[in-house]
Amino acid sequence: MPQIVAHGTLDYAELASLGLSPDEVHVFSSNINPYGPPPAVVQAVQAAVKPTTISRYPDRLAMELRRAVARLHQVPEEAVLAGNGTADIMWLIALLFAPDARVAIVSPTFGEYENVASLVDAQVIQPCHPGWERREDGRYTPGATTLDELGEALAEQTPRLIFLCNPNNPTGHHLSPDELERLHSFAPESIWVVDEAYAEFTPTPWSASRWIDQGDWIILRSMTKDFSLAGLRVGYAVGSPHLIQAMQVAQPPWNVNTLAQIAGTTALDNLAWRAETTARLRQETEALRQALQAAGMAPLPTSTNFFLLPVEDATQVRQALVQQRILVRDCTSFGLPNYIRIATQRPEENRLLVEALQALQGDAS
Ligand SMILES: Cc1ncc(COP(=O)(O)O)c(C=O)c1O
Repeated sequence: MPQIVAHGTLDYAELASLGLSPDEVHVFSSNINPYGPPPAVVQAVQAAVKPTTISRYPDRLAMELRRAVARLHQVPEEAVLAGNGTADIMWLIALLFAPDARVAIVSPTFGEYENVASLVDAQVIQPCHPGWERREDGRYTPGATTLDELGEALAEQTPRLIFLCNPNNPTGHHLSPDELERLHSFAPESIWVVDEAYAEFTPTPWSASRWIDQGDWIILRSMTKDFSLAGLRVGYAVGSPHLIQAMQVAQPPWNVNTLAQIAGTTALDNLAWRAETTARLRQETEALRQALQAAGMAPLPTSTNFFLLPVEDATQVRQALVQQRILVRDCTSFGLPNYIRIATQRPEENRLLVEALQALQGDAS
């Protein structure tokens, strides 16, 4: 059995073993908008909770949601697939396009790409993100890899499928349209899966969905992060229509439930809420990074709502913080055992984290 790579989301079994409920912990470990879903989404879901909605099957084609996505990305509806979150769509992609194929995962990055590729026996290669280097022991460090070096590695390996997270989890680095266009030119025959889960948190959101008719693209857009819908599970793919059609046929029926479809459609009517909360979060991310710097720590730069913080031993730091009901992401599973990843929360929680980290520094000295 392949090993499943860990995530930073709440581990309910761990919380139960500590006698804690999810409401009793400060969660810096998953990168969800701390301002919650748009109020209009909560109202629409509450209004929909009635016996008929619960007992009836959902629209298996999620037509309203797909129509809203198509309008937003200015693509035809046949280019849109709804998913039970985007992790769901990653599994579908692997099932259809990765069995026994060469799959490039631009690393260090989100672990689910490796999970899904391994489960279908893909031949996984892990070329390095620009600005990072992979050491012999499999760990990553900030380094000198250039965009063209990454492109050349892709050109040499000719993978069938390429997973690229943009902006990247966990490094927070965001490639520009010019950079991605250049990178694509090195491997134009591959299917490019670009995961834009965090695009809307950046100061300059953009989408590779603009290129779906120039090559084979599948762009993933989670709605669980920016719209804070992780509990309901909803996301979508925008892609080259022939790929989306193949995925539509292979998708388990009714996998996006009615309430998730309503939440997703209503969320896309509330883009101003997203713009306003993510702008606030950018300022708070900067304030948090500055507070950590002032306390003698060295957070890495980021273009999104989370960032890496170098520490002596990520596993130990995480464990020490859990005792104080603070969850951060131990980045060991990314090949970064000397980093924790912090997702910015509301200012009062951010202050708690700075104090807790400062206290740990004091204990260590
Ligand atoms: C880069 C990235 N993509 C996708 C996901 C999963 O998102 P979803 O909730 O849409 O399945 C995550 C979750 O952590 C993520 O970090």
